[in-house]
Amino acid sequence: MEFRGRDIISLKDFSREEIDYVLEIAKTMEPVAKTGSDLLQNKILATLFYEPSTRTRLSFESAMHRLGGSTIGFAEAEISSVKKGETLADTVRVVENYADVIVIRHPLEGAARLAAEFATVPIINGGSGAEEHPTQALLDLYTILKEKKRIDGLNVALVGDLRYGRTVHSLAYALSLYEVNLLLVSPEMLRMRREVLETIKERIRVSEKSKIEEVIRKVDVLYMTRIQKERFPDAAEYAKVKGSYRINTDILQSVRKDLVLLHPLPRVDEIAPEVDKTEHAKYFDQVWNGIVMRSALLGLVLGKIS
Ligand code: NCD
Repeated sequence: MEFRGRDIISLKDFSREEIDYVLEIAKTMEPVAKTGSDLLQNKILATLFYEPSTRTRLSFESAMHRLGGSTIGFAEAEISSVKKGETLADTVRVVENYADVIVIRHPLEGAARLAAEFATVPIINGGSGAEEHPTQALLDLYTILKEKKRIDGLNVALVGDLRYGRTVHSLAYALSLYEVNLLLVSPEMLRMRREVLETIKERIRVSEKSKIEEVIRKVDVLYMTRIQKERFPDAAEYAKVKGSYRINTDILQSVRKDLVLLHPLPRVDEIAPEVDKTEHAKYFDQVWNGIVMRSALLGLVLGKIS
């Protein structure tokens, strides 16, 4: 399967075979990322981050360094020429002269796709507004496969902000390529985006709920998300849904013994700290899996793995 030179913008663009292939490659990269290698020697990654980030930017950088490559970029658009009024299209056409691959995070939906139209090097979407976050979803999927040994046949619940949360949009597209029973739990106001819902409903069984108690007993994977405060049009709207869901050790009394609890992080109050020490908590394992998945993706789009 050819990934050399490919942009990674949306999981809508992926087939099941392609995702399975990426998951397989990630598995082979697990020991490589751990011990280090010179696979990406002389390769340069540019990270253009126009929005806050901890994990996405640092894990791409860490993956690049582990594989012998190097990184340049900015995490603060304010200190780049964006401040002087440079367009994204121009920035990308400049930066592609400095780097072999570009990861971009931008508050506007469609930004990564626009960048890809102008760039000749691969563009990886590190989060495009409330739209998508494909590399996060791929590492989530990798975590599910690692923990459950399969994806088909699982009951998966996505909980929280399904409207503004971009990770759940990408994850829903990806999960809809497998035989999963998808349970969407959110306040009425934060229901799954219509365009995502329409696509996934054609492929798998999807049900929408408001209460976590309606699904908690039967789920294999519980994926919690943060209510995306910064994307709300006004503070009063946010106040209505703030703190809608909270997982604590009490609620975990009624779950399946092998329930896997995930969260893309950062968390606010959706998962009580007391849950961290339970065997369900896998959200800090997701962080390492992010290094593994991003190592695989960099190797693939740079044509060093096939
Ligand atoms: C997420 C994001 O940026 O969309 N963070 C991440 O990349 N792990 C989730 C969030 O901000 O809630």
